[in-house]
Amino acid sequence: PMKVIFDTDPGVDDAMALALLARSADVELLGVCTVFGNGTLDTTTRNALYLAELLSLRCGVHRGAAAPLDGGPVHPPVEVHGRNALGDVPLPPHPARAESGIAASDCLVQALRRHPGEVSVLAVGPLTNLALALRAAPDVAALAREVVVMGGAFGHHGHTGNVTPHAEANIYADPQAADEVFAAAWPVSIVGLDVTHQVVMDGAYLRALREHGGGLGRFLWDISRVYQAFHHDTGVPDGFYVHDSTAVARLLVPGLFGTLRAPVLVDREGATRGRTRLAGPGEGTGRPVQTVCREVDAAALLDFYNRRMRAGEGES
Ligand code: BDR
Ligand code: CA
Repeated sequence: PMKVIFDTDPGVDDAMALALLARSADVELLGVCTVFGNGTLDTTTRNALYLAELLSLRCGVHRGAAAPLDGGPVHPPVEVHGRNALGDVPLPPHPARAESGIAASDCLVQALRRHPGEVSVLAVGPLTNLALALRAAPDVAALAREVVVMGGAFGHHGHTGNVTPHAEANIYADPQAADEVFAAAWPVSIVGLDVTHQVVMDGAYLRALREHGGGLGRFLWDISRVYQAFHHDTGVPDGFYVHDSTAVARLLVPGLFGTLRAPVLVDREGATRGRTRLAGPGEGTGRPVQTVCREVDAAALLDFYNRRMRAGEGES
């Protein structure tokens, strides 16, 4: 199986992505690292612990960064994911699991050093933990098999921002961290809004997941009601985007994606804060060439998700 560290801010679509990983026999999760984003760090860590128990994960949950590298304010998008970031479904106040004593950035460094060339990092929240790992241990960049990032938007097919006209939420939350992650000499695959806005789980798909996905299918339905209502109010009439599961698919079934390769730059301040763009001629010299997804076979991706979830029917 592929060794994976999942860096996440759960979050409804994060939870759906973690469920997919948990139902993937070809994945060995080495750790779940938490970061602020869809909720405060306390909220996302509590949610990760809850999900780890629900999904019977055998890895630790590692608390990460509570704020961006510049220490700036954190604004959880309660209108998107709910006040508890899992659709305001009541959760036990005290998770059955305890978090690991190893911090997220230390977990990343230790795993990459322990298994050189074997560990894939799947990052679906703000990139603060990854940047902290690089700052503490620059050698780890050369040790990663791959880094898959859900974040950014490059304007392909007209897709630009979702929190501002220019910026996607994960990059906007910590543009300095994103810039450092894209500038490091590890192979990054970027799964931005250009592809995630092509993948919509519609009402019929979600009802089928609820009916045939066992207890987990019903749980994913319950936590996604607020998220679906938000999409309904913002231009997706029937269903929602599954940003973070699209990044899981990039890791597990890369052939579903069409890509281009270029150095990637991040605007760190001003009106375009959080904007990602491909380096133009003469720009980005010395920065590594990264892989940017621009096409996706959405039907095949949705089928992939569905088959993996149904294979586990009756398990929970
Ligand atoms: C990203 O931001 C969060 O709301 C989602 O979980 C996803 O990772 C989409 O912009
Ligand atoms: Ca996320």
